[in-house]
Amino acid sequence: MARTENSVTFLRSDYQESAFSIKSVKLDIALNPAKTIVVNRMMVSKKLVGVNSTLVLNGQEQELVSVRINDEPYRGYELTPETLTLHDLPDEFELSITSTCAPDKNTSLMGLYISNGNFFTQCEAEGFRKITYFLDRPDVMATYQVTLRALKTDFPVLLSNGNLIKEEELGNGWHAAVWEDPFPKPSYLFALVAGKLTAIERVIKSQSGKDKLLQVWVEAKDLEKTEHAMESLIASIRWDEKRYGLELDLDRFMIVAVGDFNMGAMENKGLNIFNTKFVLANPETATDVDYANVESVVAHEYFHNWTGNRVTCRDWFQLSLKEGLTVFRDQEFSADQMGSDSGKAVKRIEDVRLLRQVQFPEDAGPMAHPIRPDSYQEINNFYTVTVYEKGAEIVRMQQTLLGQDGFRKGMDLYFKRHDGQAVTCDDFVAAMADANHKDLEQFKRWYSQAGTPRVHVKESFDGNTYQVHFTQSCAATPGQDKKLPFHIPLLYKLIGTDQVGQENLFELRDEKQTLTFKGLSKKPTLSINRHFSAPIILDFEQSEEELLTLLREDDDAFNRWESAQKLFIQAILNNRDLDPALIEALRSVLNDEKLDAAFKDLVFTLPAESYLYEQVDVIDPQLIHQSRRKVRSQLALNLQGEWLKTYQKNSSTESYKADAISAGKRSLKNLSLNMLLDSQHEASQKLALEQYQSANNMTDRYGALSAMVQNASGYAKECLDHFHQYFESDALVIDKWFGLQASRQPELNNPSSVLAHVIQLRQHPDFHIKNPNRARSLIHAFCMNNPGAFHQPDGKSYQFWAQQVVELNEINPQVAARLARALNRWKQFSPSYQNHMKSALKFVSEHKNLSSDVAEVINKALNS
Ligand code: BES
Ligand code: ZN
Repeated sequence: MARTENSVTFLRSDYQESAFSIKSVKLDIALNPAKTIVVNRMMVSKKLVGVNSTLVLNGQEQELVSVRINDEPYRGYELTPETLTLHDLPDEFELSITSTCAPDKNTSLMGLYISNGNFFTQCEAEGFRKITYFLDRPDVMATYQVTLRALKTDFPVLLSNGNLIKEEELGNGWHAAVWEDPFPKPSYLFALVAGKLTAIERVIKSQSGKDKLLQVWVEAKDLEKTEHAMESLIASIRWDEKRYGLELDLDRFMIVAVGDFNMGAMENKGLNIFNTKFVLANPETATDVDYANVESVVAHEYFHNWTGNRVTCRDWFQLSLKEGLTVFRDQEFSADQMGSDSGKAVKRIEDVRLLRQVQFPEDAGPMAHPIRPDSYQEINNFYTVTVYEKGAEIVRMQQTLLGQDGFRKGMDLYFKRHDGQAVTCDDFVAAMADANHKDLEQFKRWYSQAGTPRVHVKESFDGNTYQVHFTQSCAATPGQDKKLPFHIPLLYKLIGTDQVGQENLFELRDEKQTLTFKGLSKKPTLSINRHFSAPIILDFEQSEEELLTLLREDDDAFNRWESAQKLFIQAILNNRDLDPALIEALRSVLNDEKLDAAFKDLVFTLPAESYLYEQVDVIDPQLIHQSRRKVRSQLALNLQGEWLKTYQKNSSTESYKADAISAGKRSLKNLSLNMLLDSQHEASQKLALEQYQSANNMTDRYGALSAMVQNASGYAKECLDHFHQYFESDALVIDKWFGLQASRQPELNNPSSVLAHVIQLRQHPDFHIKNPNRARSLIHAFCMNNPGAFHQPDGKSYQFWAQQVVELNEINPQVAARLARALNRWKQFSPSYQNHMKSALKFVSEHKNLSSDVAEVINKALNS
């Protein structure tokens, strides 16, 4: 631990086992919004009997009332704002602590807080210490018995982890419920919910024939939006039984929706708490993307029951042990739900797009860290795309190296060895290695080295022998100047030769390595890193002709897509027109009856600006933005006839179905509409308006509205007004309304109009900065998802950003710290932008009272 002026740095190498264990916890919580009273009785014991150690409990933002040991008052403690220290303790004792907290003052949404009149908790990573004094670390695992008391009229439903064992009337209008969780768990998995809620229920039989009660709890008005979440939960339960032989271990499993939530959702044992955004869905208010998100987030939190809860993390540096693995599991689940092979490829492409758009920049910026970090100042800042998405890639590579069956053997051994324990990433890899007798020592560098490896590929052919020469490298990252070679699994296939027709695995381990093929009559076309088998930057100059061959012929849908992306990148970065041959190849893609609509949609989705930034040394954001738009307009204009046909072909008057095939058709149809508007097709304005008015589902309604807003259609304003009025009472839809306007692309003749509009919307009566979803739908959407509008040469957006970070910092440090990352890559921009960014960063850093969350992000950016 190292202390500087306003921050403490925690080091992975400082890990020490706790000297005390807590076997059981009995919580008695009298819920009152202004003053909640918590009585916490713990059975504590020393791990080394007879040693005189002090016990340092974590606690924040509580009023301490009393401390008792074995039922006697105890006064020998020391209290600081963040700790309670006890001395001269027996080997085994009951520690009873009474304290109070004020949920109605809690705007950080960590610990116990109020949302729309109901009580909720969020304890991961370090929120339990705001509820009671405790050893708030994941390797201290205890059983919990929880008594909740509250006024029955205001809080008729009382929920906590595990099984309900008693309900009781208390007089004075108060009532109580007692919950017991039989599985020892770390404090971060504790949860309670209390208030006016109602549930849909299903009873299913698990694999071994036991009855399981499933519930989705929401506010009464949202009851008709719970079906999809329930079905997703059942599908997840079935999938984990089938793929991994893992069964639900509790008799009851609950999901609760809350409108104020910092994250997406949380895997509290038996009582998952979700952001409403990832639970509620019906055809009128949720898009296909929302449906898919609900399915994958429900799956993710459910899968944590084994990967995270039954086997948990020893310390927070091991976060990817549960998050990377669980993201990998939810990705595989969602891919399997797609049905077809091409559907699976679509899911893979979407995941890779996210990785490259968000994680590659993080890995190249001031916050770069290994998936198992070595240090942190604020753990909340390390719930990153690196720990999550890159972490999932590193699990996926182990499956690629070991095969699906080998990977399953590794998982079986992992649970056999570690069920009920708090373990490390090394333990996970050891189980994989031992179950398969495979040496994964070099592979482990993926856990310890930050940065995206770059693999340079060069070919040679002499009329007979074909060789592929590989060179790997990895740029320096903060604190890591030199990297050792990675163990990189590369799936490949030679195309256009009769000799080798099958997919093979090449394990690149050295800095330089060569693959040799003899007896070839002509030079093959290399399809490499198929399915994106490794999360690397591939530096391989293939001719346009070869890329077109791959686009037309590769049987790996990922690499077909990838070859088109490469050709787009070349055109955009060189500010060149698209080659006629490319346009023809794309025309065939669009007309190909055998291809999934969702795949076609992705082929025409240009690389994101944030990914294009990674391809240049110095970023000129406006140059990239304009050039990308130009390429898009060329696609729109050159294929105008196809867009109209595609639009008509994929239109349907049937009632809404949420399955992947129907969703793919809708997304391609809406892309076509966008393209028609972009190309100023004469009928397109009316087409969009008609689709907006007659849509029987949100995907089509929002698709039409978005096309109109993005292309500055004359109907955009009236439809936006209508949309707001029509969905006024639905918070998640109003989020879409804000989000769409914040993501609007700038008008070419008035580029700062988006900022002006965002500033105006900031004052809208429906804008509530304390609600994370609403704040993100306007502020984060503009600052982080609309680079063309945000990065204006006058630097005004950066000032806006700085003010918002400072304001959010007071309310909710986590939401503020996410926004604070928007300028992390400032050093990459051309000098005039850099200067503006630097003053905005300075403005924030000089603010008094910065949370450690925001301070860490801003200081790392400034010192980069
Ligand atoms: N354990 C996390 C929730 C969490 C995140 C708690 C950060 C505390 C701090 C949960 O399992 C999770 O990963 N949620 C994701 C969604 C998921 C589908 C990747 C989230 O909330 O973004
Ligand atoms: Zn998770």
